[in-house]
Amino acid sequence: MSRPPLLTVILAAGMGTRMKSARPKVLHEVAGRSMLGHVLATASQLGDGHAAVVVGPNMESVAEEAKRWRADAEIFVQAEQRGTADAVRAARTALAGHSGDVLVLYADTPLITPGTLEKMRSALDAGAHVAVLGFQPKDPTGYGRLLLDARGDLSAIREHKDASDTERDVRLCNSGVMAFRIENLDAELSKISNDNQNGEFYLTDIVEQVVASGRRVSVVTGSEAEVLGVNARDQLAAAETIWQSWRRTAFMQSGVTLTAPDTVWFSYDTEIGRDVVIEPNVFFGPGVVIEDGVAIRANCHITGARVGAGATIGPFARLRPGADLAADVHVGNFVEIKNVTLGTGAKANHLSYLGDGSVGAGANIGAGTIFCNYDGFFKHQTEVGDGAFVGSNSALVAPVKIGAGAYVGSGSVITKTVSAGSLALERSEQQERTGWAEKFRTLMANRKRRADKAG
Ligand code: UD1
Ligand code: CA
Repeated sequence: MSRPPLLTVILAAGMGTRMKSARPKVLHEVAGRSMLGHVLATASQLGDGHAAVVVGPNMESVAEEAKRWRADAEIFVQAEQRGTADAVRAARTALAGHSGDVLVLYADTPLITPGTLEKMRSALDAGAHVAVLGFQPKDPTGYGRLLLDARGDLSAIREHKDASDTERDVRLCNSGVMAFRIENLDAELSKISNDNQNGEFYLTDIVEQVVASGRRVSVVTGSEAEVLGVNARDQLAAAETIWQSWRRTAFMQSGVTLTAPDTVWFSYDTEIGRDVVIEPNVFFGPGVVIEDGVAIRANCHITGARVGAGATIGPFARLRPGADLAADVHVGNFVEIKNVTLGTGAKANHLSYLGDGSVGAGANIGAGTIFCNYDGFFKHQTEVGDGAFVGSNSALVAPVKIGAGAYVGSGSVITKTVSAGSLALERSEQQERTGWAEKFRTLMANRKRRADKAG
């Protein structure tokens, strides 16, 4: 069946004063991605079609964020916040240039799913001119109520403030998501008045207009979690909680073991292979790929990193952007890695900082090794060759290279190239004085006795 093309209008003009933030509300993040980014990504999953984003005045940062997730998004500025119908009309040139379905989403409702939006479009296919996404909140206070006719179609949406007591008893509420199959939607919207408690142009008033002209309006229902609107920071945290619980379930269903699921935090783009075991308290920032069979032990923080198949990470490891670990690498406790590739089977098991460089296959980085990558002005590279062995507590002062198979003696400060296969040692020779300890103890004990007597 061929469907009319889709235009998605995303309302993002509200500053969100209840967030008490210097940033526009829709830039606040859930799972490492702005709420606006989530909504744009979901809209894009509906297949081809156009996106229009309605922002407030001086919201260049919101426009930029929209372009980041959808380069072809058209940006419209709503000069004054005069209500949701006025907000959609801010995109009237996009509406005018479009013949087909229109979907209206709120940028502060980040958890809406493609499946539900698909149901909305199916409702239009089934003959509705408008489809409204309804839900049954535990507490309906503040939401518009969906008033149904005898057939179960929608006859009106009544805003809480304008509703009578009997209307307020209705549990089915408006999520705000609406879909339209109406020729010249802008003309229909222009008929809406602002004769209500708020003096706003309500998008929801379109329902009564459409019904009055004998056209059908359908209700599609979704879960309360999915339509959660974020107005304040507690709701932002609630959205994060819901998103995380969905993603944990999805990962477990795809073959990932989470020993304590509630303590593992993913980003919107985290990729995890099969038979990965993740122990408690692990955080994934954006840009992480974990391949099959990896073990991530407790208390790791991982961002912008790839971990190759069969590797073991942690406990207490930190992988920062550019950490690229080949298969079977071992990274142990209190090791921080940034912008370094580690070859197959390389090991850095204890207390190290590896920043900017590379470690060859099978190399061993001893406890307490530091890549001294920064001179206060520039960052420099450290290259450790295949099979090299860097002794504990060594400082490798970049730029520097350790050749394949070479040894660095413990405690060395290495500033010059070490050629393949050699031993580099940089420390003073050890001295020994036989019997010294006993003489020292006797001398000091006598000195203390005299001092005690005198005092
Ligand atoms: C709206 C619905 C209500 C529904 C509720 C769900 C209307 C009239 N009411 O009410 O039925 O139950 O959402 O959360 O639509 N916005 C603009 N420009 C404006 C006004 C709003 O961009 O001029 C944006 C806001 O930033 C927000 C969204 O539209 O993202 C919803 O606006 P809001 O004022 O929060 O509507 P509600 O009163 O919550
Ligand atoms: Ca709202």
